Amino acid sequence: MTLDLDLPRFRQLLERACEHVLSLYEGLEEKRVTHASPPRLVEDRFTGPLPTDGRAPEDVLARDLPFILEHSTLNISPRFFAYVMSGGSQVGILAELLCAALNVNHAKWHLASAAAEIERTSIRWLSEFIGYRADAGGALVSGGSEANLYCLRVARDAQAPGTREEGCRSERPLTLYASAETHSCVMKSVEMLGIGSRHLRKIPVDARFRVDVAKLEAQLVQDVEAGLRPFCVVGNAGTVNTGSVDDLDALADVAARHGLWFHVDGAYGAAAASVDLTRDLFQGLRRADSIALDPHKWLQVPFEAGCALVRDWSSLRNAFGYATPYLQAKSDSAERWDWMGHTFQLSRSFRALKVWMQFQVYGSRKLAAVIEENVRLMHALARDIDQSPDFERMAPAPLSIVCFRYAPAWLRARGEDAVDALNDRLLEESERRGTYFLTGTKLKGRTTLRACLVNHRATEAHTQGLLAHLRALGEELSG
Ligand SMILES: Cc1ncc(COP(=O)(O)O)c(C=O)c1O
Repeated sequence: MTLDLDLPRFRQLLERACEHVLSLYEGLEEKRVTHASPPRLVEDRFTGPLPTDGRAPEDVLARDLPFILEHSTLNISPRFFAYVMSGGSQVGILAELLCAALNVNHAKWHLASAAAEIERTSIRWLSEFIGYRADAGGALVSGGSEANLYCLRVARDAQAPGTREEGCRSERPLTLYASAETHSCVMKSVEMLGIGSRHLRKIPVDARFRVDVAKLEAQLVQDVEAGLRPFCVVGNAGTVNTGSVDDLDALADVAARHGLWFHVDGAYGAAAASVDLTRDLFQGLRRADSIALDPHKWLQVPFEAGCALVRDWSSLRNAFGYATPYLQAKSDSAERWDWMGHTFQLSRSFRALKVWMQFQVYGSRKLAAVIEENVRLMHALARDIDQSPDFERMAPAPLSIVCFRYAPAWLRARGEDAVDALNDRLLEESERRGTYFLTGTKLKGRTTLRACLVNHRATEAHTQGLLAHLRALGEELSG
C-alpha cells in the first residue's frame, strides 16, 4: 500500500517541480506583483469535492500549479512594498525541500540530533547577529506573532509564579505596558494568556511614534497604587506602521526600577541592529529579557520562521517543561538536548535548516549588507518625497518603511477627506494594476501610503519607479 512512486518517476516529478520554481524567476522584472482575478474565479476553481481516487501527480503539476502560481502575490518581486514581506531566498527553497524530504521531528534529541543542534546554533547566531547575548535561550517558531506570544508567556510565568498552576487571578490583575503603535499580535497574546486585553496599557507616542516613557511610567505607578500587578514593559524595535524604535534604554530603566520583565518586539526591525547605519537606534536591546524577531522578514528566510529569544534557557524550561512517561527514552540523558522541554510544540519541523543554511551560504556580512542597502534606498525615497511638492511625508522613516501620501496643493485645498479619498483610490488601483504593490495605514487619522522594503532584489530603479508610478497614477486618477 505504499504511496511511493518508483525513483525514475519521482526524479522526473522533482524536475518538473523545479521547472515551476524556475518559471517564477524567469522574467521576474516584468511580471505582475499582484493578481487581479475576480475572487469568484479563484473560489470556483477550488470548490471541488474530496477526491476519492486521486490523480496522477503529473496532472496536478501540469494543470493546477500554473493556476496556483498565477494566483499568488509575487512577493519575491522587487516591486513588492506591501506589509513586511521579504523576497525569500533560493537557498531557502533548497532547505525547505530537504526539510520535507527528511521529515524529521526533533522534539527529542535521539530523533534528530543534527536538527536539534542546528536549531541551538541558529538561536545563537540570530542572537549574535542582532548583538544580543551569546548565551541567550530561544526557540524557532512560526513567526513574529508566535514569538511574541512565547516571550510573554515566559514573562508571565517568571514574574507571577504560580500562574501556571492557578491561572491569572482576577482580584489583582497582571498588567503590561506598550505603545499605542504596538503590533496587534501583542494584544492577541495577552488575550490568549488570560491576562485580558484591558490590562495591556496602550501608552501614547511622541511625534516620532515612539512610546512616551514618562506617560508609561506614570500609568505604571498609578496601576500599582490601584492594587494592580504590573509585570512587563514591551518595547518596539521597529513598529509595523512606521518602523519607529522606542527608546529601549529608557524602557529598560523603567522595567529595572519597578522589577518588571522587559520584552522587545523586534519582529521586523531588530535585524537592523546588525547594521552600522541604524545600530545606534537599538541601544538598550541587549538589556531585554526577551526579544521576538523574524528570520522570515529581513533575513530573507522563507515563511515560516520566527524566533523567540530569552535571556536564559531556564525560563523556557520553567514555562514549558513537562515530564511524561510516554515521552521518555532509554537513551535520554542530561547531555542530550530535548527541545520538547523548552517549547510549547511537541512535534517540531526542521525549520532550523533554512535559518542555518541562510547564514552558512550568505554569511552575516552579506545579510547585514542587504538590510543596510534596504535602509539606504528607503532613506533616499524619503528624501525624494520631501523634495516633491506633490507628495507629503506622514512620519519619520528611521528604518525601511516610508509613510507618505499624494497631496499636491490643489488636492489639499479641497480638504482632508478629498486627500484621503484619492489616496485610497491610489492604493486600490495600484493593487489592481499590479506593477507595484504597496499597502496603506492610518496615521493621525488620515489615509497613508506605506512602503516597506525588506527585499534583497530591490535597487534604486525600483524605489524610484514606485514614486514615478504613484505620481503618474495620482495625476491620472485626478483627471
Ligand atoms: C513589529 C511586528 N511584530 C509582529 C509581527 C507579526 O509577525 P508575523 O506576521 O510573522 O506573525 C509583525 C508583522 O509584520 C511586525 O511587523
